[in-house]
Amino acid sequence: MPKRYTITTALPYTNGPIHIGHLAGVYVPADIYARYLRLTGHDVAFIGGSDEHGVPITIKAKNEGVSPQDIVDKYHAIIKKSFEDFGITYDNYSRTSAPIHHETASEFFKTLDEKGEFIEETSEQLYDAEANQFLADRFVVGTCPKCGNEESYGDQCENCGTSHNATDLINPKSAITGNVPTLKQTKHWFLPLDKHEAFLKEWILEGHKKDWKPNVYGQVKSWIDDGLRPRAVTRDLDWGIPVPAEGGEGKVLYVWFDAPIGYISSTKEWAAREGKDWEPYWKDKNTKLVHFIGKDNIVFHCIIFPSMLKAEGSYILPENVPANEFLNLEGNKLSTSKNWAVWLPEYLEDFPGQQDVLRYVLNANAPETKDNDFTWKDFQARNNNELVAIFGNFINRVVVLTNKYYEGVVPEPSDFNAVDEETLAAIKAYPDVIASSIERYRFREAGQELMNLARLGNKYLADAEPWKMIKVDEDRTKTIMYVALQIASALATLSEPFLPFTSTKLKGILNLGSSAVETSWNEVSTKQTLLPAGHQIGKAELLFSKIEDETIQKQLDKLEASKKANEIANATVEPEKETITFEDFTKLDIRVGTILEAEKMPKTKKLLKLKVDTGIDTRTIVSGIAESFSAEEVVGKKVTVLVNLAPRALRGVESQGMILMTETPDGKLVFVNPDDAEVGNGLQVS
Ligand code: 2FM
Ligand code: ZN
Repeated sequence: MPKRYTITTALPYTNGPIHIGHLAGVYVPADIYARYLRLTGHDVAFIGGSDEHGVPITIKAKNEGVSPQDIVDKYHAIIKKSFEDFGITYDNYSRTSAPIHHETASEFFKTLDEKGEFIEETSEQLYDAEANQFLADRFVVGTCPKCGNEESYGDQCENCGTSHNATDLINPKSAITGNVPTLKQTKHWFLPLDKHEAFLKEWILEGHKKDWKPNVYGQVKSWIDDGLRPRAVTRDLDWGIPVPAEGGEGKVLYVWFDAPIGYISSTKEWAAREGKDWEPYWKDKNTKLVHFIGKDNIVFHCIIFPSMLKAEGSYILPENVPANEFLNLEGNKLSTSKNWAVWLPEYLEDFPGQQDVLRYVLNANAPETKDNDFTWKDFQARNNNELVAIFGNFINRVVVLTNKYYEGVVPEPSDFNAVDEETLAAIKAYPDVIASSIERYRFREAGQELMNLARLGNKYLADAEPWKMIKVDEDRTKTIMYVALQIASALATLSEPFLPFTSTKLKGILNLGSSAVETSWNEVSTKQTLLPAGHQIGKAELLFSKIEDETIQKQLDKLEASKKANEIANATVEPEKETITFEDFTKLDIRVGTILEAEKMPKTKKLLKLKVDTGIDTRTIVSGIAESFSAEEVVGKKVTVLVNLAPRALRGVESQGMILMTETPDGKLVFVNPDDAEVGNGLQVS
């Protein structure tokens, strides 16, 4: 029975491009789901859009010296295009700055306000007097009261996922000026989550114990067990949707109040464009509403948004919220600010036409039940050992041999032996096997089952050896090739949700364009023949190609460069020393010298004994540079020397001066190198 589905994906903040963490957590599984449901005949609204409000966007705008609108315009365009190029098949991709969203969110707020679903309360909130601003959400950082993370944001701790009020933070500091905030009175509208606790307990804790993922259920249970408290849904900010109520001047809706309503606005925008009615997608009890999100969004989609929908009264609630855990990159947490990521637009540029490789790897390694790690080596291995060696190799052999033996015409089979029968029966089982995994939100498992079908094809060919059989039994060879072609056809249909670009290419190669040979998902099980004898297929084309070590090395080098840049940016700079007088300074006698001889001081790690020509004399200087330079490499070097430092004994050797050095962030010493100066030149102040 076809059903109606509303599938939503977390609206990404428009303060940067999409990266592999977003894709693995949300967009790849959601697209697999939407494509599968469409293929199986369901009525699907696959909804997305950009989250254009919130503090991260204003912070980014401030840092770049542009307006928040400039930031969201820029990233909305980048994100939307990269989703399209990556094959995410949204029915609608909107943005929360769209007028339809402002209207929808305002109306939603007004309805709740009129129904008395808010508490209005004047309370003391954190305030930065220097910036003349209340410190909402990411404008304040401090210690998380739950896990002790010292860099928790005002509304949420990224370490433990807890969502809290800014005033709960221990040792709060303004993210704008670094000042310790003061408290200032201000009025806000609060959603009394405590009032919805009983309903949430019954709906989730009792109603969805079995069908929601344990990671989602567990988080929700722990919040409810901790006790729910009223949450402010307005903010003292100037970027967002103005609060449509008396006393709301200068205030906007909290981004997490308006963003999920963005799913509704985006559905409305789509329905208006398509001449459809949006309401059944949000209000008909038979519609299945599914939210795809990352684990940091669980509280908003399982507690706050459902409480809003329930309070409004006319909406359905999500049937499931299959949130994923996080994907790490090469062992470290993904980070936009540290540029520790694989960015989608860059991937599309570096790997043109290889969208399916990333889709495949991200799904094969998706953080469905725990955090997982993406490594470039694994990406290469999965491409070379699975996509190329199993899927691509099977299709290539089938298509090449069919062209070689039969000029591309599917041969007439003769009698099937037991293995043929088993293989044909196995093909028919795959649509249900894969569907069952997808419907339980086990997309990794589903992707592996698809690969198992290709494995089956490879094994069938390897065992039946048509390339040998052709020399001894032409009829048997025809049967073998016929069976193999049925597997290839099933792969063309069943790969669509996972490898959509490959599926299209394969359908082209197998010439599946005409309705006579086109096979729907369900028909893979029910049709007697997928590719009938006599059907003409096309020529072989490579579906996947081997990824070489150099290609992977380039990506690793990019990450290494980010790591270096971060180290430099985070290097602690020594504070300026106490001020000295000009007279103090002129006491220093600094000259250019040359190192004539050098030897390592016995039983020390750091010390070199140098003989230095200072222009006035040749003297001994003991210098602590042996960890950065060998004795041999410093001989002949021009150096800068402080010559009137009082002599001092180091390990029994009198050192008569000091060589001036600088230090890199990673602790390496570098000579202050007076290349253009002559030995004996003294320091001049100018
Ligand atoms: O975490 C985020 O990136 C949010 N912008 C997700 C919003 S989801 C929804 F409610 F819009
Ligand atoms: Zn925490």
